[in-house]
Amino acid sequence: MCGIIGFTGLKQAAPILLEGLSRMEYRGYDSAGMAVTSPEGLLQLARVSGKVAGLYDRTENGAAFPGACGIAHTRWATHGAPTEANAHPQVSMHGRFAVAHNGIIENFAALKKELIEKGYAFTSQTDTEIVANLLEDSYRGDFQEAVEKMLARIEGSYAFAILCADHPGELFAVRMNSPLILGLGEGFNLFASDVTALVSHTRRVVYMDDGDYARVTPDEVALFAKDGSPKALRETRVNISLAEAEKGGFEHFMMKEIFEQPEALEKTIASRIRGGEIVLDDFRLESESLKNIQKIVITACGSAYYAGLAGRYAIEKLCRIPVDVKLASELRYEDPLIDGRTMLIVLSQSGETLDTIAAMKECKARGAKVLAIVNVAASTIARLADHVLYTWAGPEIAVATTKGYTTQLAVLDLFAVYAARQLGRLDEEEYAAWMQKIRELPGLVRKALALEPAMADLAVLLKDAEHVFFLGRNTDSALAMEGALKLKEISYIHAEAYAAGELKHGTIALLEEGTPVIALCCNQALLEKTASNIIEVKARGAKTIAVAPEGAAQEVLASCADRCVFVPAADDIFSAMIAVVPLQLLAYHTAKLRGCSIDKPKNLAKSVTVE
Ligand code: F6R
Repeated sequence: MCGIIGFTGLKQAAPILLEGLSRMEYRGYDSAGMAVTSPEGLLQLARVSGKVAGLYDRTENGAAFPGACGIAHTRWATHGAPTEANAHPQVSMHGRFAVAHNGIIENFAALKKELIEKGYAFTSQTDTEIVANLLEDSYRGDFQEAVEKMLARIEGSYAFAILCADHPGELFAVRMNSPLILGLGEGFNLFASDVTALVSHTRRVVYMDDGDYARVTPDEVALFAKDGSPKALRETRVNISLAEAEKGGFEHFMMKEIFEQPEALEKTIASRIRGGEIVLDDFRLESESLKNIQKIVITACGSAYYAGLAGRYAIEKLCRIPVDVKLASELRYEDPLIDGRTMLIVLSQSGETLDTIAAMKECKARGAKVLAIVNVAASTIARLADHVLYTWAGPEIAVATTKGYTTQLAVLDLFAVYAARQLGRLDEEEYAAWMQKIRELPGLVRKALALEPAMADLAVLLKDAEHVFFLGRNTDSALAMEGALKLKEISYIHAEAYAAGELKHGTIALLEEGTPVIALCCNQALLEKTASNIIEVKARGAKTIAVAPEGAAQEVLASCADRCVFVPAADDIFSAMIAVVPLQLLAYHTAKLRGCSIDKPKNLAKSVTVE
């Protein structure tokens, strides 16, 4: 995820900015940059594609950039490839303003058109350059007025660090749905998107609220609310260590990433529902070409494959196009029935999974049009695909995927509703209703996180188990697979997932007194059926845990399962995204009780680039 830092004081800014960027490196990024105002009031700019080390080299460890006020950035590419030209800070056409930005400007296309008509030229593919030029366009000598005018024009989520060469020593920090924290010092002030970049300079911080902006000089921080009214600084002290700060105060990256899911989903979804439409910027298949598609094949590995299994239900239900979900490691060696009328959807967090790349190449060679749903910008899969939809989950560091999986589901859901509308299968009212259901998902995931203490409690029941079974029907059977994988990969407990109706065809023989069975009952139409499977396994000694939506299921399950976990209710086809949260938390707490290496489980790698 991108990182921002701004510093203004009496000391040289560049070494402090570089150190701040190094502290934020753990978040992952693919390019970096820094802008510092020289004592003569000139804007000095350095940007590199690649690591912060390149920025140290380019600026002679900062020594080549004199001046005590500057901003810097590490970029995780979204709009535009991770090149030097697209790195931040982005500078306005006349070189007066420099802007570092986290987030997305949703109305960038309209603003860019307007600025081009006014004669502005652009040198990058970023939405950030538009912000720099909007500032230039609004500027009449008053820095703050230009910032306020620019803010009135933009829509989206953002955190900005803004520097104006005409106003040495003065910076603006802006926050809207993207974190930014002010750090207060003696003879200097700074701000950053990540507390890790602040704590070696000061422990006195002010957390900005959404919509806030601040004018920062060496001896003053003036904070304003969105409507321009001044706000008092509510100062707090950070007492966490640097190592803790990197994990956002969580003990493990996995837990941090589980808790980042509402934000990651918001980013993935919100910018794609605009003006009452789903806008899939990088997917340009018109309705005519979509109508020619005879089937969709989804391919991926591991959790991404399970996301495909769950997403299949949404696509088939809404689009009425047959969907096959195939393991990439198998598909690559089949003689697949794929041609120009097949659409291949490739799911991959890393974008580098070797089997997925090979399956994709095989299908592409047979004429399939490829849509990749990927988290890492400019990764191999993103580059090879015909169309790419990014998941915008930010870097995932824990080996076991969490936010990678849920954001893949979000993009599949958006795609299903979008394609159904293009195919004429949803009228206006239905289309609006489905969009609304998708929009609500991040909030429902946020509510599901409140189950954390309950799942820590339930983990005690699982920690000594030798085998755990996960059951479910329909969308719940896909979810069962992800639940079982999460548990086995981090707790090393043997876990298996079964379609609940399959049990009596063999698996039921494995049940013993006390074997934990987790029954997923989110599919409301099949609730009674799964409930009878719970009774079936309970009669054979299993300890049963039901996971179901709040509402009607509560009464049915309370009388048959030993323990129940109720999650916020969502439509059946979207339920995996909500109900996976307690399963992630359960796996985490079970692994923790067993003393396992949660972020780096044995024998596993984050990106599987071998066969
Ligand atoms: C499980 C997990 C793996 C990945 C799989 C695919 O928690 O992370 O199963 O889902 O290796 O990786 P990507 O999505 O990078 O292609």
